[in-house]
Amino acid sequence: MTTVAIVVAAGSGTRMGADMPKALIPLAGRPLVAWSIWALNASDRVDGIVVVAPPGHERPMGMALGETAELLAMTTGGSSRGRSVAAGLGEVPEGADRILVHDAARPLLSPDHISMVLAGIEDADGAIIAAPAADTIKRTDDDLHIVETIDRSVHWLAQTPQAFRTESFARAIEVALEGDYIDTCTDCAAMVEAMGGAVRVVPSVLPNQKVTTPSDLEIVAQLLEARNLRA
Ligand code: CTP
Ligand code: MG
Repeated sequence: MTTVAIVVAAGSGTRMGADMPKALIPLAGRPLVAWSIWALNASDRVDGIVVVAPPGHERPMGMALGETAELLAMTTGGSSRGRSVAAGLGEVPEGADRILVHDAARPLLSPDHISMVLAGIEDADGAIIAAPAADTIKRTDDDLHIVETIDRSVHWLAQTPQAFRTESFARAIEVALEGDYIDTCTDCAAMVEAMGGAVRVVPSVLPNQKVTTPSDLEIVAQLLEARNLRA
């Protein structure tokens, strides 16, 4: 079994509002993307890593990656997350039978997340780390009037890493490109679901916050610093 990880780091980080792409922002002493790369290298379940860089920032990305032992390739991302994933897939060597996709925006990734999500594809085309909905969920109309209270026990907040059998994943990307809906898929599971693939949820039991805004950066920096002190 060969597993290749695709790290999507090509976003511009509009909501962060920094003067550089989000993946390159310094976080607890390293560029944000370097935390995910550390976890993928530390996992004995990952055989190679492909990194998707923001257009025009390939050089600083190369420097952020440094001497990453398992790095197979770095490529340039596209205009949407889905297109960046497709670019990453283009660099995955023949023979990889499992693909792990991870957003650089989740720097709390650990080898345990990776093992857990890979275990989820034993009996499915894909598996995703997802958090149970903790708050009561309301559906509203355009005027923000509540239309319905939704049963939260069956709703999950999708995170990454997400793992897939390569055959199903490659087909899902191809179909999403052909069907022209790749730009609206905010995660990879959506593409596999759209072609009828079986994707399961692996409940998130470890910290895995996403860095979207400057306040997220502060919270995640504190969590990483606390983790380093314990190590
Ligand atoms: N991503 C990507 N290519 C894009 C858009 C997003 O590789 N064209 C990646 C981001 O780098 C990030 C992940 O997808 O690791 C999740 O996206 P998000 O958190 O939305 O990051 P950005 O798109 O960079 O942020 P924003 O939406 O605020 O601009
Ligand atoms: Mg985005």
